[in-house]
Amino acid sequence: MEPDTKENGAEKKPKTVKETLLNVDYWKLRWAQRKVAFHSANVHKFLAEYNDRLLVGREHIKILFPMCGKTVDMKWAYDLGHVVVGVEGSEIPIKEFFEESGLEYTVEPLTTIAGNRYKTTDGRIQIFECDLFDFNKDLAGQFDAIWDRGAIVAVNKDQQKRSRRKEKSTEIFLAMLHRLAGPCPPHVILENQVCDLYGDKCTVEKVCSVDSFKEKHKSWGITELNEDLYLIIVK
Ligand SMILES: C[S@@+](CC[C@H](N)C(=O)[O-])C[C@H]1O[C@@H](n2cnc3c(N)ncnc32)[C@H](O)[C@@H]1O
Repeated sequence: MEPDTKENGAEKKPKTVKETLLNVDYWKLRWAQRKVAFHSANVHKFLAEYNDRLLVGREHIKILFPMCGKTVDMKWAYDLGHVVVGVEGSEIPIKEFFEESGLEYTVEPLTTIAGNRYKTTDGRIQIFECDLFDFNKDLAGQFDAIWDRGAIVAVNKDQQKRSRRKEKSTEIFLAMLHRLAGPCPPHVILENQVCDLYGDKCTVEKVCSVDSFKEKHKSWGITELNEDLYLIIVK
């Protein structure tokens, strides 16, 4: 996930957001202002290349996409026959996801927490419009896998452990984190910090690290930028 760098179409130096401001309201505003450079029109390269490590031969599994935005990775999983559960705080990307995917959907209010449930007519994609910190297993049960791209790096540091706790019961967990010395969000999460966050109940394997540094990053005060893929398996 790259920081927001465009204002009215022009490149600008990204700002660091005050730590405590990374809440749902902050992200809703970013969607409303279309400051969503993190969104990609393509399936994530790590998911495309390494999905066998996440799926380990399993078909039709249930995958959680925490803080999903409108990632096309959900449509990719749906087209492979998997059950998709997204959690997203802003309604804007949820509606855009269904509209851009050409999928019919229904919306119903949640009764136990604030928010709404969007789902395809076949029920195989559900996206919960709610705060991830309110989301709980009574809403969608257990998961076989989780694809975290731009989720744990998008919450306040003191909430990262809390967001991880929601994922305890999952068999296989895959997180994609970026190493980025520079503005926040995204947070910098180094390998030892990934182990601190997950290591007590999980095995952590760094699957790959790709140098994604480009010339433009220099003007943002960034001297190195790597995209790291971790496979985290609940023991
Ligand atoms: C950096 S974006 C990543 C989006 C998506 N995973 C992707 O790869 O494109 C973080 C997303 O998390 C959502 N978000 C941030 N905090 C949240 C929270 N506490 N609960 C639910 N969604 C949240 C934001 O609205 C935003 O769409």
